[in-house]
Amino acid sequence: MSRIQDLIHEKAEQYFDYMVQTRRYLHKNPEVSFKEFETTDYIIHELKKLGIETKRPLETGCIGIIDGNPSDSVIALRADIDALPMDEEGDAKKEFMSERPGAAHCCGHDFHTANLLGTARILNDLKDRIDGKVVLIFQPAEEKLPGGGRLLTESGALQNEGVKKVYGMHTNPNISPGQIAVKAGPLMACTVEFDIEIIGKGGHAAAPHTTVDPIVIAAQVIQQFQTIPSRSLDPTEPSVVTVGKIRAGSAHNIIPEKAELMGTVRAFSMETARMIKKRMEEILAGVTAASGATFTFHFNEGYPAVVNDEECAETIRSSGVELLGTENVILMERPLMAGEDFAFYQQEFPGAFFFLGTGSDEADSKWSWHHPRYNVDEKAFLTSSALMAGIVLNT
Ligand code: NI
Repeated sequence: MSRIQDLIHEKAEQYFDYMVQTRRYLHKNPEVSFKEFETTDYIIHELKKLGIETKRPLETGCIGIIDGNPSDSVIALRADIDALPMDEEGDAKKEFMSERPGAAHCCGHDFHTANLLGTARILNDLKDRIDGKVVLIFQPAEEKLPGGGRLLTESGALQNEGVKKVYGMHTNPNISPGQIAVKAGPLMACTVEFDIEIIGKGGHAAAPHTTVDPIVIAAQVIQQFQTIPSRSLDPTEPSVVTVGKIRAGSAHNIIPEKAELMGTVRAFSMETARMIKKRMEEILAGVTAASGATFTFHFNEGYPAVVNDEECAETIRSSGVELLGTENVILMERPLMAGEDFAFYQQEFPGAFFFLGTGSDEADSKWSWHHPRYNVDEKAFLTSSALMAGIVLNT
C-alpha cells in the first residue's frame, strides 16, 4: 500500500467518531423532503468550521467547495439529506431514535450526509494533493418528485463550478460493511407513471350500437400495450409496461362515458422509455380512431435511469481495490428496477453511483430500505469516507 492510501485510512479513522456522532444527531432530528432547513444550517455550520466555502442554490441543501491546486479538474461528490415521512422502530437505534413523529431516516441519508462531512474533513486536510477542486453536494429531496437532484442540476450551480465528473453512493443492507458493489452501464431503472383517459359515448348496456364503449376499447389498448416490449423493442433491452389500475363504469346495465387507465413504465434508458411512449400514443390513437373514441395521455417522467459512465465506474472499482482489497469489491451483474434521482446529474455530467455495504446482524441493519427498522452498521464509515476521498485523489 502506498503512502497516500495509508494517509487516507488514517484520516478516515481519525474522523470516524465525528461521522458517527454527526449521523446520530441527524438521525434524531430528521427532516422530510424540501423541509431540510435545520439540516442545511447544520451542514453549512460544519463546513464553515473547516473554512470551506458554501453556496445555497436552492431553499434547502447546499454545496461546499474545496479548492486544491490549480487545474481544470472539478469532481463533485453527492449526498442526499432528506428523511422519509414515516415513524421508525428498532432497539438497535434506541439511543438516537427520531424525536420527530412522522419523520425518520429510514433510507440511510443521515449516513450519506455524515459520510460526506467526514470526507470533507479528510479532503480538506489533504487539499494540497487535490488537483482542481471538489464540489460537495448536499442535495435535498431525493425522495420526492421532481427530485432535489433535478432542481439542483437545473439551477446551473454545478455548471457554474465547472463540474466535470460526479460520484454518489447509497447504503445497502444486503452487502456487508467493508464491501462495496459497483457496475458500469445501466444500474437503476428510470421510473415513469402514465395516466390515460379513453373517452367514448355512454348509453344503455342493451343498445351498444348507439354508444362508443370505452371499456371494450380499454381492453384492446391494454392487450396492444403488451406488444410493445415483445414486438417493438430489442429483446435484449429490458422494459416493463404495466397497467396497474383501471377505473370505469358504475352499474351492470350502463355503458360508461369513459375509462381511465393508470400504470408504470420501467426501462434502462430514456431513449427506450420515449420509444415506449411513442408506441403507446400510436396504439391509443389507432385503437380509439378505429372505434370512434378519443383519448388523453399523460406520461410523467419521474427519474431517468442511473447509467454509470464506464470510466467513472472504473475509477470507483480501482480505488476500491486499492483501498479495500479485491475481495471487498463486488462487481454487480444485473441492474436494479428501483430509481434514484442521482440520474439527473448523469444527464449533465459523466458520473457513477455505487452501493456501500451497511448490513450486519450486530447492528440489526439488514432490514430493507424504507422499513421502519432500517439501520446501518456505522463501521461502514471507514470504508465510505476513505473510498470517497480515494476517488478524488486517484482521479
Ligand atoms: Ni435513499
